[in-house]
Amino acid sequence: MSKKIQIATIPGDGTGPEVVKEGLKVLDAISGPAGLNIDIVNYDIGGDRFLKTGELLPQTIIDEFKQMDAMLLGAIGHPDVKPGILEKGILLNLRFELDQYINLRPVVLYDGDDTPLKDKKPVDIDFVVVRENTEGLYCGSGGFLKKGTRDEVAVQESINTHKGVERCIRFAFEYTKKRNRDKKLTLCGKTNVLTYAFDLWERVFNEMSGEYSGIKTDYAHVDATCMWMVKNPEWFDVIVTDNMFGDIITDLGAIIQGGMGIAAGGNINPDPGGTSMFEPIGGSAPKYTGQNIINPLAAIAAVQMMLEYLKEEKAAKAIEKAIKQALKNDIKSLSAGNMGMGTKELGDIVARYAVDLFE
Ligand code: IPM
Ligand code: MN
Repeated sequence: MSKKIQIATIPGDGTGPEVVKEGLKVLDAISGPAGLNIDIVNYDIGGDRFLKTGELLPQTIIDEFKQMDAMLLGAIGHPDVKPGILEKGILLNLRFELDQYINLRPVVLYDGDDTPLKDKKPVDIDFVVVRENTEGLYCGSGGFLKKGTRDEVAVQESINTHKGVERCIRFAFEYTKKRNRDKKLTLCGKTNVLTYAFDLWERVFNEMSGEYSGIKTDYAHVDATCMWMVKNPEWFDVIVTDNMFGDIITDLGAIIQGGMGIAAGGNINPDPGGTSMFEPIGGSAPKYTGQNIINPLAAIAAVQMMLEYLKEEKAAKAIEKAIKQALKNDIKSLSAGNMGMGTKELGDIVARYAVDLFE
């Protein structure tokens, strides 16, 4: 009997729908061999719906998401909507409402991929960033005084709760323990300036390290982390950090693994019954919309992460191998318009490889 999995899709804006389509193509192809009965429920939330109806993320939809096994997001961001409205009203709201307190972003260089880092090979670039996803500067805490005057004051506060920091660091230790690399966890912070927020992070980190004798721990300031990610990415296994720093260093991570065309992430609620959401992290890239030139690999890699999280390891492995195979044999470049083939054609190739490579 096949296993039933219900997935909510939010194709969203710009090129989001095109890449989600390819992700679902691969998911559909692998569902046969993997014995999965996938039920897709599609949601049209995003910039277009907002412009038409004024609606961002209705509560009834949030309640439906809570019942899903997982979610797949394309991208949120529309050129006709003022920055901040969709991001806060949809993406951040989803992360907060579904308590997806981990943003998991693997940084992996595959063979045949182009990294801008001189002399670095796949063996050197293979780490994961565990980004806190519901607190810090993203909470929306703060405000204006005397807005629009010369005396204006703008305050934006970073909120760090003991509970939020602890559950994030706990996840990172557990993840490092399971991961088959150096068993090393690096806290990325700024203890020399942010002496309240990262004091809390450092205390929780050091205390918890006592429970994980098999894991080496390390600390790096965020600025130094950026430097090491470029100079010695092989030093990292798992990095844990706060929301804002995680946002910044994962874009750097994406570019050293070959670019946004391949970078995927998961917004994870690890608690029992929690719903997690997987996404290509590259954004909506509106200028490429509808041209069949955007790279769908990040969305396909998001499907791979989703299957891993759903404990469908064989299906996830087959997709990973298929991506690697396509990178080696078929793709000229990861950047939009230079792949040597179209979005749909690349989706077809990966879907075929995934079925062939399923074990
Ligand atoms: C990301 C994005 C979002 C973030 C934006 C779109 C709000 O950059 O997922 O990294 O800052 O978290
Ligand atoms: Mn970002």
